[in-house]
Amino acid sequence: MDPTHDVVVIGAGCAGMRAAIEASDSGADVAMVSKIHPVRSHSGAAEGGINAALGNASEDDPVKHAYDTVKGSDYLGDQDAIEILCNEAPGDVYELEHWGAVFSRTPDGRIAQRPFGAAGEPRTAYAADITGHVLIHVLYEQVMKRDILTYEEYFAWKLVIEDGRCQGVIAWDLLNGGLKSIGAKTVILATGGAGRLYTGTTNAYACTGDGMALALRVGVPLKDMEMMQFHPTTLSPTGVLITEGCRGEGAYLLNKDGERFLVRYAPNAMELASRDVISRAEQTEIDEGRGLDGNVLLDLRHLGAERILERLHGTRELSMTFAGVDPIYEPIPVRPGAHYHMGGVDTDVWGQTGLEGLYAAGEVACVSVHGANRLGGNALMETITYGKRAGRHAAEWALANTTIDVPASVEADAERELKVLLDRSDGERPWRIRDELARTMHENFGVFRREDQMLEQGDVVRGLRERYERVVVEDKGDVFNTDLTQALELGFLLELAECMVVCGLARKESRGAHARPYDYPERDDESFLRHTLVSWEDGAPTLDWRPVTMTKWQPEERKY
Ligand code: FUM
Repeated sequence: MDPTHDVVVIGAGCAGMRAAIEASDSGADVAMVSKIHPVRSHSGAAEGGINAALGNASEDDPVKHAYDTVKGSDYLGDQDAIEILCNEAPGDVYELEHWGAVFSRTPDGRIAQRPFGAAGEPRTAYAADITGHVLIHVLYEQVMKRDILTYEEYFAWKLVIEDGRCQGVIAWDLLNGGLKSIGAKTVILATGGAGRLYTGTTNAYACTGDGMALALRVGVPLKDMEMMQFHPTTLSPTGVLITEGCRGEGAYLLNKDGERFLVRYAPNAMELASRDVISRAEQTEIDEGRGLDGNVLLDLRHLGAERILERLHGTRELSMTFAGVDPIYEPIPVRPGAHYHMGGVDTDVWGQTGLEGLYAAGEVACVSVHGANRLGGNALMETITYGKRAGRHAAEWALANTTIDVPASVEADAERELKVLLDRSDGERPWRIRDELARTMHENFGVFRREDQMLEQGDVVRGLRERYERVVVEDKGDVFNTDLTQALELGFLLELAECMVVCGLARKESRGAHARPYDYPERDDESFLRHTLVSWEDGAPTLDWRPVTMTKWQPEERKY
């Protein structure tokens, strides 16, 4: 294969860039492959902050951070992985600061930290409400400083497996057209989530679960795929994220009667309860007729113009641009929307998958630090800490172990497969299937889940997969053929949806984001304190289970 590298990172958001930087600093020749420019990655949409027990705003420490994360995960998070995250987080955040991340400051000049949901201490370091944007720019500077090559606007379509290990990737070159093969001793998946499975989502159009599906297709299991997080405050009607930082700064959630309804659901934590709890509360208010046009209201007015302009200026701009609402004067219409996949590619604490040479980090992976419900601010932290760990391990392994040896027939086979799709001149347009998938996932696999709806969704997805076999790509051109890449993305999404439904049906309990109030309203630790592991065999998902790793904390009733 030509070109080749020691380490190839697929995806160039926070996890991908942090992995690439660490692999480069470990002495490896590294390249990134990304379907969009790195600074346009969806990490840039992370607004409210990054969690580390810096103790700048209170007496905090990594043990408290770990406990909050374990409890927040509804005890499904692996406690060894959570302890690593919380112990390494402060050093990793200071490293970002030393690289130039412009965090907001306390009056005495330290990194400011705001309260976030389900956190016992104000622990979320932030750069106003554009934290992800700041971090990807800082990381990109470090990438450029090291001259790390980026195959920009390359769409990763297939992993290359030879001799029982991952040895590279085959990608479609968006700018020039054509398949390109890139060899690698180790490959790190860092492609983010799959929020585009849903109509109402905070996720960018690029978030189509590519890395999860690539791993699944080469026999690597996905873990806890039923666990899709719904963020409580997504802007109506677009689904754009309205940061939890608003509630961290003191914003209220109101129903149509002007009531702070969380008093009936989370009387202690109120707007700072965990995301699963608040999303369910909102959905209940909406379903029982106390919403407004399918929304509730997020009220910032009492915070005052000065605070909004200083710390939440991005929120104000988004609200004005996409909903015509200025939060200084009016409450913002919000509702729960698909935000983050707690599930993903099964990895160990160094990002290794079960397939030699293949790693994963960030949202695409499930190590698992978030379990059944992620705490706001822990995702950015995971991208950094686990991106760094995956980068280091992948580099060390590549430098110590192996060569690249792939027969030319691998590329020829891929060319032939793509030609079948491009040669088809009649058939259904992919966008129809994509719309139907997103709409039905929202209806049948949302905040609340019912057995009959999940069964129906399984049928829907299988039907859509049959129709997908006959889709037609009308654009036969080479330059920016997004018709082609969207068709390929749809293939990824359909397989992931089927995995999610199978796992959701099998988890006969309510835990975190997986809420089954009608048939299994309680958490059942006896039977389900374990991860789902889904693999793809003979064109369909097969299910297995794995125990949760416990270190210090036994499951308790979860109250906020
Ligand atoms: O609400 C937010 O700012 C999102 C943060 C996160 O998902 O971690």
